[in-house]
Amino acid sequence: MEQTLSIIKPDGVKKGLTGKIILMFEENGFEIKAIKKVQLTKKEAEEFYYVHKDRPFFDSLISFMTEGAIVPMVLSAESAISKNREIMGATNPKDAKEGTIRKMFAESIERNIVHGSDSPESSKSEISFFFNILEIL
Ligand code: CMP
Repeated sequence: MEQTLSIIKPDGVKKGLTGKIILMFEENGFEIKAIKKVQLTKKEAEEFYYVHKDRPFFDSLISFMTEGAIVPMVLSAESAISKNREIMGATNPKDAKEGTIRKMFAESIERNIVHGSDSPESSKSEISFFFNILEIL
């Protein structure tokens, strides 16, 4: 079994989509190994998205990710990383397939409801950013 980090972003939480998104993960065979609700500080969001620090959208992304609570969770399944990315859909909702989370709920490429790790390396570091080993069951 592989693990990946999913985050329901501030737009998803504000729109009351937390339960619906968790249900989609469970119905698609994911086990929720850990979950919490937190609000990131600017410093924490900058650390989490450090790889994007030189992108033109970085400041706007940090402001969005700190505007409200988020729900990070550890998902487990076979090929969890790629499976989660399929269920989320493309980063830009305009390019996302029908039935994906972003196609159904996202407003824009930035306010795109969910985040998912994109590789085994990022999954490992993103999971440990939010959860310690005792919190993953
Ligand atoms: P995420 O999967 O969390 O990874 C980085 C985030 O940056 C992405 O989802 C979007 O929220 C945001 N993002 C990516 N590309 C753009 C863009 N071109 N303009 C604005 N925001 C973007």
